[in-house]
Amino acid sequence: MIPRLPFVEEFHTFRMNTLTIPLCDDFHVHVRQDDMMKAVVPYLAAGGMSRVLVMPNTTPPITSTAQALAYKEELEAVDPNITYLMTMYLHPDITVEEVHKAADAGIVGIKSYPRGVTTNSDAGIEDYSLYYPLFEAMQERGLVLELHGEIPSDHERDICVLNAEEYFLSHLKQLYTDFPYLRIVLEHITTAAAVAAIREAPETVGATVTAHHLELTVDDWAGQNHNFCKPVAKYPHDRAALREIVAEGHPRVFLGSDSAPHPRNAKEAACGCAGVFTSPLLAAYVADTLESLGCLDRMRSFACEFGADFYGLPRNEGTLTLSKQTCTVPASYGDVVPFRASQKLSWSLCPHS
Ligand code: NCD
Ligand code: ZN
Repeated sequence: MIPRLPFVEEFHTFRMNTLTIPLCDDFHVHVRQDDMMKAVVPYLAAGGMSRVLVMPNTTPPITSTAQALAYKEELEAVDPNITYLMTMYLHPDITVEEVHKAADAGIVGIKSYPRGVTTNSDAGIEDYSLYYPLFEAMQERGLVLELHGEIPSDHERDICVLNAEEYFLSHLKQLYTDFPYLRIVLEHITTAAAVAAIREAPETVGATVTAHHLELTVDDWAGQNHNFCKPVAKYPHDRAALREIVAEGHPRVFLGSDSAPHPRNAKEAACGCAGVFTSPLLAAYVADTLESLGCLDRMRSFACEFGADFYGLPRNEGTLTLSKQTCTVPASYGDVVPFRASQKLSWSLCPHS
């Protein structure tokens, strides 16, 4: 028998100017609370997602199993068709017992924010040694440690937003050396240095890449608040390294949008909030970018397979079809301005069944 080509559907559908892949996973999204939550959750499915890893930097942060489960219920009340993978916020309030409770309840990870580096990170960590007993329990129970990989700026040491990720990488190395069975995800990588660190890291270490960091450099956010996010987009050579590791189909590098909606006035303020909103068109942004890089054939593995495999989850059922038809990104979704607002994308999302 002739072996079936893995992407036979894509070959067929490409002739029809459509691309059909499984529904996607977003392994890093901010879906907020209250009215903002009700407004943005419906966009997850619209953007082609079936399963999302929900960030815990709410107010107050999610630091207990009970809070995570209550939050999950609220999200399910808005859209029950999305699978919400819940996380807790690494915090001194979390005990070893709580880690076991979380594992029993199906919570998949704990997210670490270094103190003060981004939105709602005032409760973030300063020193990892305090958390070693928790990491031990997470390793035992299979919880994933998600890292916001930046250290706080320190001008005495010449540390600022441009090198904050690179300085974090020694912490990553220390953590995977000390906990060889703990799965760790370095979130939203932005530098060639982080790409190199992932390449040399063991199988237990993965990374997420956002749709916007595949497009932006410093020039795009300096003076353009709507492209300002943490970590900030870096140099052209950093973006090139991100593009390269995605284009080659590295199996531990997968989509995590870091879609982070803020109301327009909070973005356009003198001291604007960090965060880029991509949920409503997420799969279309990724398709547009991958096609421009000549690697549209990586869409399936990057957005639908590698993340699920890393997290040890079944791959999604159900399909998503994109059509090779120009779409214009709306100027805003309610009060939130999306990524590439009013610009054209080369792929459109078809309503899915
Ligand atoms: C995120 C947010 O707004 O919650 N902002 C961002 O720029 N990415 C926080 C975060 O993930 O750093
Ligand atoms: Zn985030």
